[in-house]
Amino acid sequence: MKRRTFIKGMAAAGASTLVPAGAASLALSSCERSKPFPIGDFNEVIDRGGTWSIKYGRAKNGEIPMWIADMDFRTDPYVSEALRRRLDRDVLGYTTTPPEFIDAVAGWVKARHGYEVQKEWVGYAPGVITSLNQAYLTFTEPGDKIIIQPPVYDHFKLYIERLGRVAVDNPLIYDEHGKYRMDFEGLEKLFDEKTKVLLLCNPQNPVGILWDKETLATLAEICERHGVIVLSDEIHGDLALYHKTHTPFCSVSDAAARIGMIFAGPTKAFNLAGLTGTAYCIIPDKEKRDKYLGGLRNAKLDEASVMTIEAVIAAYREDTSWLESLIRYIEGNIFQVEKFVATHDLGIKSIRPQASFLIWLDFRELGLSQEELMDRFIKKAKVIPSNGLSYGPGGEGFVRLNLGCPISVLNDALDRIAKAFAR
Ligand SMILES: Cc1ncc(COP(=O)(O)O)c(C=O)c1O
Repeated sequence: MKRRTFIKGMAAAGASTLVPAGAASLALSSCERSKPFPIGDFNEVIDRGGTWSIKYGRAKNGEIPMWIADMDFRTDPYVSEALRRRLDRDVLGYTTTPPEFIDAVAGWVKARHGYEVQKEWVGYAPGVITSLNQAYLTFTEPGDKIIIQPPVYDHFKLYIERLGRVAVDNPLIYDEHGKYRMDFEGLEKLFDEKTKVLLLCNPQNPVGILWDKETLATLAEICERHGVIVLSDEIHGDLALYHKTHTPFCSVSDAAARIGMIFAGPTKAFNLAGLTGTAYCIIPDKEKRDKYLGGLRNAKLDEASVMTIEAVIAAYREDTSWLESLIRYIEGNIFQVEKFVATHDLGIKSIRPQASFLIWLDFRELGLSQEELMDRFIKKAKVIPSNGLSYGPGGEGFVRLNLGCPISVLNDALDRIAKAFAR
């Protein structure tokens, strides 16, 4: 029985005992709803003390940490329940990546992003950054060039350089209407024989741009003409806001399917970052897929942890009500920031994200150096944002604020910002 049909059947029957006889897969049994799951209470301030949180590790003096991209909400309770059920059996032995994992990803990508993939294109991926790093090792040599489009997620450049490759900037254009777009003219001038890869952030972090089909198809055409592979990081793709949709890179054209590789997962949308490996890849081109997956195997990075498998299958279920309520909550927090910016004359501009829980704020009108700006935030406001400069050219004068928090915490942070930046 197909997984989705099975889940539908269970929901219709309201049953808790509908696990097929002999079902070896905990993943299927974890889809049972023995009790209704509450939609998340995103107003609840949860205690992250004693959980070894990286985010809170930097907030030792009463600061509100609004930097690294995990959310201060409970993980989707449905996912937690799947993990609990696994632990209830005390079975944590070596585990294969089961067909249910591939089915869950393929079903999700079709239902949520309208992209029908063949199952063999889908594979387990050991976290997005680890998987991208593995792709650099597989498809490039030390000294080869990888193009990135700043301002962009800082770990792109960081790991490209750690692995002895060269990150080449093709900065986004920020126009006079406050809109970002790709600079294709600039891009055309960058290619040489050392340029092997373009690393795309789709949706883009930190600005939160959902790239449209036309832009992605143009990018694919240019990169294919120059013999360059596109690695598309789509980790924020499940968090398209305002009822918009995310466009998977490989779906936009035949060229994109030939040269593209997608890396994504429920990590951000379902708040699973601490599991570290909740990711998948989609590689339509067989030659690239075989080469990539072969590299993963050789590095012994192809084995998912059992908790990762359980979490991905549970997250990528048919019922998206938890996720939808989360998205509405994030939109509410964005509105709160926009209202704050509009009603306080502080010289701040906010750029509305189209995806995810991060907001890009423009402080350039204040004329502060980046150091002064960060000091004002951390020492005076006692709010820790991400430093705009860490995202490369185009980030100076900006900060990124993580809005994945209860609105009471956000309001406290905004009050502090209002006082620290009053003029
Ligand atoms: C664009 C982007 N890619 C990747 C990651 C990290 O992914 P992973 O934890 O799977 O390595 C992040 C985390 O913030 C991100 O924003």
